Amino acid sequence: MVSRTIFCLSAFLVLSVLATSASSSEELSPYYYYHVCPQALPAIKRVVEAAVCKEKRMGASLLRLHFHDCFVNGCDASVLLDSSPTIDSEKFAIPNNNSLRGFEVVDQIKLEVDKVCGRPVVSCADILAVAARDSVVALGGPTWPVLLGRKDSTTASRDQANKDLPPPFLDLPALISNFKRQGLNERDLVALSGGHTIGPAQCFTFRDRIYNKTNIDHEFADQLKSSCPLKGGDSNLAPLDPTPVQFDVAYFDSLVKKRGLLPSDQALFNGGSTDGLVKAYSSNAKAFGADFARSMVKMGNIKILTGEQGQVRLNCRKPN
Ligand code: HEM
Ligand SMILES: *[C@@H]1O[C@H](CO)[C@@H](O)[C@H](O)[C@H]1NC(C)=O
Ligand SMILES: *[C@@H]1O[C@H](CO)[C@@H](O)[C@H](O)[C@H]1NC(C)=O
Repeated sequence: MVSRTIFCLSAFLVLSVLATSASSSEELSPYYYYHVCPQALPAIKRVVEAAVCKEKRMGASLLRLHFHDCFVNGCDASVLLDSSPTIDSEKFAIPNNNSLRGFEVVDQIKLEVDKVCGRPVVSCADILAVAARDSVVALGGPTWPVLLGRKDSTTASRDQANKDLPPPFLDLPALISNFKRQGLNERDLVALSGGHTIGPAQCFTFRDRIYNKTNIDHEFADQLKSSCPLKGGDSNLAPLDPTPVQFDVAYFDSLVKKRGLLPSDQALFNGGSTDGLVKAYSSNAKAFGADFARSMVKMGNIKILTGEQGQVRLNCRKPN
């Protein structure tokens, strides 16, 4: 799915995002580190590739980290802050606790980048955005120019994370309004949900769906019951789509077959307004790749801090 067309299309859309970003005093640029540290992006890519090579799932985990960062007070690396007397860590919010992972890889990237740059110039928020892109590419997905220049926050909020991160039981209207609050539209919702083309979910997130719901393929539900019993096995994993280490359109194909794992996945193909787009993506990898790239750039621009609004953390786990 990596093609010249996708690159050119997303490059064009990057320009329109740049032209319309409003919430910050300065704008992001793909060339932000071009002069201060040309080695930065290749270094991030090296560490991501090594981590994904060691464990393919890490690509999924790094993609999700960027999503969970951006949806809570913007893409400011607040998700990486550990608990302290002044930090209300988001790591313990309901959707994150015992679920978010990849923090050690981010630490490793930070160490490596600061080393090759000779000083700490790359923000943790930018590291998350680049690592998400490099993860998608490493698993065979589309590429896009990542806009850079985000600064890191000095605060975090578990309450805000609990309010803003979408739970898996939301129906389509609730998902649409959750994304709308972030400035993302229905098309962004469907494209970005395609992130579930990689990675697994824990039994407790889909148990109600496989035992209680009717908009599910019976054979699919029965297969899942062996690894996700009625009682116990809460953290047992099942893949979010049939090819969980390949960034492809199998996720959308599954939805069309009523084989979505999470209620929020199947909600996108359940007789509502997004059915057509799910169907279209299911047989058009190029269209999905281009839209996913465009929506990732849009998500990466949510409430960013620039210039004096934030800092470049020395340690991604704590404010300077
Ligand atoms: C539309 C609303 C969404 C809901 C309700 C949702 C919910 C979930 C849930 C419940 C899990 C499993 C967590 C666990 O069992 O520990 C999960 C995993 C995942 N989600 Fe989402 N998600 C949504 C959107 C997204 C978006 C926009 C992306 C990225 C663009 C994304 C990427 C992922 C990935 C890659 C995983 C697997 C993570 C891993 O293996 O570590 N999700 N999601
Ligand atoms: C997070 O998970 C830990 C370990 O399972 C648990 O002890 C703790 O109560 C959870 N925290 C919250 C806030 O739910
Ligand atoms: C099925 O639905 C009922 C009624 O809402 C609920 O009490 C029960 O816990 C659900 N079963 C599962 C396995 O989630």
